[in-house]
Amino acid sequence: MTPKTEETTVTASQEEIDAARGHLTRLVFGQLAARVVGTALRLGVLDRFGRGDGGRAAAGAGDGARAAADVAADLGTDPRATLRLLRAMASLQLLTETAPDHFALAPAGALLCDGGAGSPSGTASMAAFVRMFTDPVVLSGWEHLSDSVRSGAPSFEAAFGVDSFTYLRQNPEKSAEFNAAMSQGTSVAAAGLAAAYDFGRFKSVVDVGGGDGTLLAAILRGHAAVQGMLFDTAEGVAEAPATLAREHVADRCTVHAGDFFAGVPSGGDLYLLKSVVIDWEDDRCVTILEQCRRVMPGDGRLLIVEPVLPPTVNGTVPPGAYLSDLNMLVNTGGRVRTRAELEHLCTRAGFAPAALTPLPPPFAALEAVPC
Ligand SMILES: C[S@@+](CC[C@H](N)C(=O)[O-])C[C@H]1O[C@@H](n2cnc3c(N)ncnc32)[C@H](O)[C@@H]1O
Repeated sequence: MTPKTEETTVTASQEEIDAARGHLTRLVFGQLAARVVGTALRLGVLDRFGRGDGGRAAAGAGDGARAAADVAADLGTDPRATLRLLRAMASLQLLTETAPDHFALAPAGALLCDGGAGSPSGTASMAAFVRMFTDPVVLSGWEHLSDSVRSGAPSFEAAFGVDSFTYLRQNPEKSAEFNAAMSQGTSVAAAGLAAAYDFGRFKSVVDVGGGDGTLLAAILRGHAAVQGMLFDTAEGVAEAPATLAREHVADRCTVHAGDFFAGVPSGGDLYLLKSVVIDWEDDRCVTILEQCRRVMPGDGRLLIVEPVLPPTVNGTVPPGAYLSDLNMLVNTGGRVRTRAELEHLCTRAGFAPAALTPLPPPFAALEAVPC
């Protein structure tokens, strides 16, 4: 006998259909909006508006506003096309049109000024972050997202002949841009992490894959008795001495260049991996964690800090976490994991997962103890 099936017809109101149309349009136009942001940054448009006013000019009656024609003259660009770009930027709330054809920085535009002096309340610029995520090299992996979904493998290597970290090694300029982008993202996360997790109970923190030292410097600044060891590739630590000196912690932090698949420095009682596990597929992650386990004292701790996905898509983390996951798929072969997936890696490497400290979503810090 054929089982009876009930047909359910999903009917949507005109209002819902209109909302769905608007939603899809915004999603697809989002890629064009990102082009506007990247182009404005690369042309130096934002730096043509009074830096250092934190976008406050935009809130006033035109103070600090500039005529589109003057901006075009400064940039040497076509005046009519420049006006169109500035209008698009105003529609995207990067600028404010204070009078016809006159524009001033809005707060989001101020965050794109290199150096970030113009950003509201002294927060760091996002210029390097935007530069990286609008970079043709990063986007080329995305051009082949369908290939990666079919194969499960990153597309970066097919496009460039080497994996992404080897590419950075071979292209020091791109490596410096990558380190700057990581540093900008991490400087925001660092304050939250330093407040949420007690680093003061450790004698020596080893930041494995610690990049330019932004996070370790923030930890050391908050804990005068803690020593630091920064470990990364030679390109990864290239800017570290400057960061550590600027943050006045160079006397408490040593810098080590090497390969975390081959070994990590001994002597720490906390091994910190911020946005490192995310870059690699499972077996490679287990190797990195095992290297930490090998040199760690029995009462030491491992701390993995990165985006953590909930078991189902339930709105508790922003969509950016899932887009980062796909970015790892196409560009590095890594992934954004759930708590259970991270704990499984820890177990495989000889750790017992302990507490999970929530940080501003999608980040969390997973502590593990050697067993
Ligand atoms: C996504 S970045 C994270 C940097 C930093 N922890 C942060 O959160 O800002 C990953 C880091 O891993 C480093 N890395 C990649 N391969 C490595 C290797 N084989 N040995 C040591 N470090 C490596 C990169 O140079 C980079 O600094």
